[in-house]
Amino acid sequence: MDQQKIQIFDTTLRDGEQVPGCKLNTAEKIEVAKRLEALGVDVIEAGFPISSPGDFHSVQAIADVVKNATVCGLSRAVEKDIVTAADALRKAKRPRIHTGIGTSDSHVIHKLRTSREKVVERAVAAVSLAKKYVEDVEFYAEDAGRTDNEFLAFVCEQVVKAGATVLNIPDTTGYCLPEEYGAKIKYLRENVKGVHKVTLSTHCHNDLGMATANSIAGVLNGATQIECTINGIGERAGNTALEEVVMVLRQHPDLNKFTDIDTRQLNAISRYVSETMRVPVQPNKAIVGANAFAHSSGIHQDGVIKNRETYEIINPLDVGVDHSSIVLTARSGRAALAYRMKNLGYELTRDELDVVYAEFLRVADDKKEVEDEDLHQIVEYRQKVAV
Ligand code: KIV
Ligand code: ZN
Repeated sequence: MDQQKIQIFDTTLRDGEQVPGCKLNTAEKIEVAKRLEALGVDVIEAGFPISSPGDFHSVQAIADVVKNATVCGLSRAVEKDIVTAADALRKAKRPRIHTGIGTSDSHVIHKLRTSREKVVERAVAAVSLAKKYVEDVEFYAEDAGRTDNEFLAFVCEQVVKAGATVLNIPDTTGYCLPEEYGAKIKYLRENVKGVHKVTLSTHCHNDLGMATANSIAGVLNGATQIECTINGIGERAGNTALEEVVMVLRQHPDLNKFTDIDTRQLNAISRYVSETMRVPVQPNKAIVGANAFAHSSGIHQDGVIKNRETYEIINPLDVGVDHSSIVLTARSGRAALAYRMKNLGYELTRDELDVVYAEFLRVADDKKEVEDEDLHQIVEYRQKVAV
């Protein structure tokens, strides 16, 4: 069976940048965009041009430098947003306007204080207007995760008729269960006329820690674009993490899906985004966390030393990490100590290892992690005592 390409739509510079306190200047945004393009993303959502002159200018500058990826600008279903987004994208080789409106009852009744009919009218008008400026128009149904499927399908069908090329189905509040989100995508695939002509896109938030699972459920039910951010940054608990969905698809060839991401760049871009946006990556973060390839318990260390695959399902080189690490702590065993000692140039006999291990445990109980320097000191002390 042929493998199916899944498009990666990166919104680090738009949804990701909504994290409090991590504003980037235009030069920094251009650098992030260049790195995203080199990484192989298909679409870069460069910003929300109407939101500020600075954002307008950044989208314009990114549209100018990015050559291969589609450059996308966000707008609400509001005339001046759409016109401004079109203006910012004028120089883009592949421009896309991303426009939309809330469709859940919560949005229709409480936020927009309008009716479903008016929402459909505004959605269609927005897509029709965007279509006057660009061929590629993505429509988002905000809070689609909590919108009833029948109404959602109706809105989607109307905007496809108006010319939308991509249907974005955001789980804006990160509420859906994977089965539910997957079923929603399946329902749309089966009930929206014309859906086969357009791209169905996932856009999941991580409020319940299910953004990656939901995006994958979407893809398994017919979505062919995933919206995500580097390190999963974004408002509240963040967005789907790009590195996670890409590696899920890569490590499961049985799913018959692939992306064009050069996974060896994942670690470097994660660090760059974390440092530039000043959002630290949690150490246990999948794929790019500092501990993602670190082994510290004796049982695991013994297994990894004998065969890396015992406890590693990803080759660290595939995500740009030089090697996995054996962290020496009071939970480490003799195998890990002997392994590290050998790397440092000390070949120990069984008896010598027993003596050094006892000393090692004394040091390890006092420190969180035993460093190479500590090991040199232990061996040198033993040698002096022996003399
Ligand atoms: O989460 C969301 O609904 C969004 C839309 C604006 C696309 O970010
Ligand atoms: Zn979002």
